[in-house]
Parts: sequence; structure tokens; C-alpha cells
Amino acid sequence: MNERKPPELVAASVVAGTFDPVDDDRENALRPRRLAEFLGQTSIKANLAVFIEAALARGEALDHVFLMGPPGLGKTTLAGILSHELGVDFKVTSAPALEKAKDLAGILTTLAPRSIFFIDEIHRLKPAIEEMLYMAMEDGELDFIIGQGPAARTLRIPLPPFTLVGATTRAGMVGSPLVSRFGISVRLGFYEQTDIIAILRRSAGILGTAVDNDAAELLAQASRGTPRVANRLLRRMRDFAQVAGAQTISADVVGDGLARLEVDHYGLERHDRDVLSAIIEKFGGGPVGAETLAVSTSESVETLEDYLEPFLIQSGFIMRTPRGRVATPLAYEHLGYQRNHADDGLQF
Ligand SMILES: Nc1ncnc2c1ncn2[C@@H]1O[C@H](COP(=O)(O)OP(=O)(O)OP(=O)(O)O)[C@@H](O)[C@H]1O
Ligand SMILES: [Mg+2]
Repeated sequence: MNERKPPELVAASVVAGTFDPVDDDRENALRPRRLAEFLGQTSIKANLAVFIEAALARGEALDHVFLMGPPGLGKTTLAGILSHELGVDFKVTSAPALEKAKDLAGILTTLAPRSIFFIDEIHRLKPAIEEMLYMAMEDGELDFIIGQGPAARTLRIPLPPFTLVGATTRAGMVGSPLVSRFGISVRLGFYEQTDIIAILRRSAGILGTAVDNDAAELLAQASRGTPRVANRLLRRMRDFAQVAGAQTISADVVGDGLARLEVDHYGLERHDRDVLSAIIEKFGGGPVGAETLAVSTSESVETLEDYLEPFLIQSGFIMRTPRGRVATPLAYEHLGYQRNHADDGLQF
């Protein structure tokens, strides 16, 4: 593939309105720019490579891409990679920043041809904006109503070809009319341990930090299958090692560091354990609804459902049932509770 000038990810993020320069800079430093640097998720990468190559060969915009998955698994990263690999502009916004139809129209009508237009949190689009987007995605044009009453008429504006990349942590909240307009759907799942180790190694290289093998393994285990968590823990371990005067991040540094951060070997943090003990202690092991659980643990429902639950469910600490969340035997065991089987109506 020939070298193209990489579009500027940081500048584009400012459009989002929710831009935090410090956080974004830190994350951008470790953010893969090319598909080859995006580790793990092999079949997703292989498919995207084909779609990119085909779109490039035809000189067309890539079909619209829907990215789903829990926070920190690489949705924003993948959107940026698509623009780099296609050699096209990258425009970033997030659904809450699109307040009025003219906000969306202003972006769409000024996109460079074949741009990637990234809308984060796409489950939060306002209905009027979402409808406008349907037409833009499908027909490549926008309809404007000008004037009022009998004198009103429709103005149709053709748009430059573009690729919409929509990302969400809540695929279930995106309606099917929108979902069906994406030609490419990517569901990111938690990463394998070996992939997280590879990501840690890559990040350690960029940060110029040495990490022992057994330390990398311990860190990967505590990273919840999530690259963002792995990178965050790595940075903290680098701090602990540095201040202790250690040359490398050793298993001892990680063991002590994780204990100080109250992260256990499953990667559970205090918040996670609070949720589990609330289900067990306050609600007899469940089932308990998300709202009730959120209130009793002083979390927002969104934090509970987006950040905490996906991993707790995936790693077998809680189950989602039609009547609510239930703590599994693993949760009892992990937190050191005795389980009274006579009390609950649920069988495991
Ligand atoms: N496959 C990967 N290989 C290497 N690093 C990765 C990978 N996926 C993600 N990362 C790293 O993890 C960080 C978080 O990824 P990213 O911001 O893309 O997550 P996200 O899915 O957009 O999260 P959110 O839902 O919170 O917006 C990135 O800065 C990047 O460094
Ligand atoms: Mg993101």
C-alpha cells in the first residue's frame, strides 16, 4: 500500500464537543494508526482489510460501518485506522453534539469526498437527526424544507460520497432502520489473554518501559480483556516501578501495584465488588433490576450497564435473567460468601 499523509485525529476530535485534550492525547499516544498495529480480533481485521482493498481498487467510498462493543475495545481506534488505510479525511463527532439538523447538514455538505465521518455514541441521536441520516446514508442526499405552509418546498442537496462510521456501546438501543443502513457491522468482543499481552508489549515499547514476562501475564489477567484497561494499568505500574527505583516492571511490582489499586487477579475493581456484594447482601443474590442495583451502589445505570456489567457477565460473576441480575456461585466464592441454596428459587 502506498504511503499517504495521515489525517489528524486530535484536531478532528475537537468537533465532538466532549473533547478532553489531556485524556485524548494520552490515549492517542498508544493508539494504533494502521490495521497491522491493531492487535487481536483477527477475523474482524481480515474482513476489514478486504473491504478496504476493494473500496480502494474501485475508487469508491467504503460502505458504512457500524462498530459495537463495550468501552475501550478499540471502536474509535478502528474508525481512525479506516481513514488512514483509505487515505481519506477523518471527521469526528458524537451524537449528543448533533443538536440540530443544521449541525449534521453542515458537516455532511462540507465533507471531502470519501471521508470517514465518525459518530460516536450513535445510540444517542435525536430522532429528527437520525431520519436525516437515513437519507444521507442511503441516497447520498439531504432534503431541506424551505418556507412554511402552502409555500413550503423541498430543496434536495446532493452530498459528496462518504463513509459513516457509527460506534456504540449499546447496540440494543440502536433501531433497526439505522442498523440496516450500515453495510458493514463489526461487533468487538473482549480480547484473549495473549492479545492483551501483545498490546501491553507494544505499549511498553512506545512508553520505553521494560516489562518482565510474568509481570505482563499478571497484568494481562487483570486487564478485563480490554486494551484501554491494559494500557492504564501499564502506566500505573510504570509509576510504581519508577518511584521504587526499579529498572523493569517485575511480577513483584505488578503484584504490589494491583493490590494498591485494589484490582484483584480477575481484574475486578472495588466498584465491581461493590456491585456483586450488593446483589448478594442486599438482594439475596438476586434477581434485582438494573435501576435498583444502580441506586443501591451509587452508580448511574449507564455506568453499571456499559462499564461494569459486560465484563462481570462475560467472566461469569453475574447472569442476566428476565427478572434481573443474579449473582453466580463464582461471585459468592470470589468474595468469600457462603451460599444458602435453600433461600433462592434459582438453580445454577
Ligand atoms: N486492537 C488493539 N490493539 C492495540 N491497542 C488497542 C487496540 N484496541 C484498542 N487499543 C488501545 O485501547 C485504547 C482504547 O481504545 P478505543 O478508544 O478505540 O476504545 P473505544 O471502543 O472507542 O472505547 P469507548 O467505547 O469508551 O469510546 C486506545 O487508545 C488504544 O491504544
Ligand atoms: Mg471511543
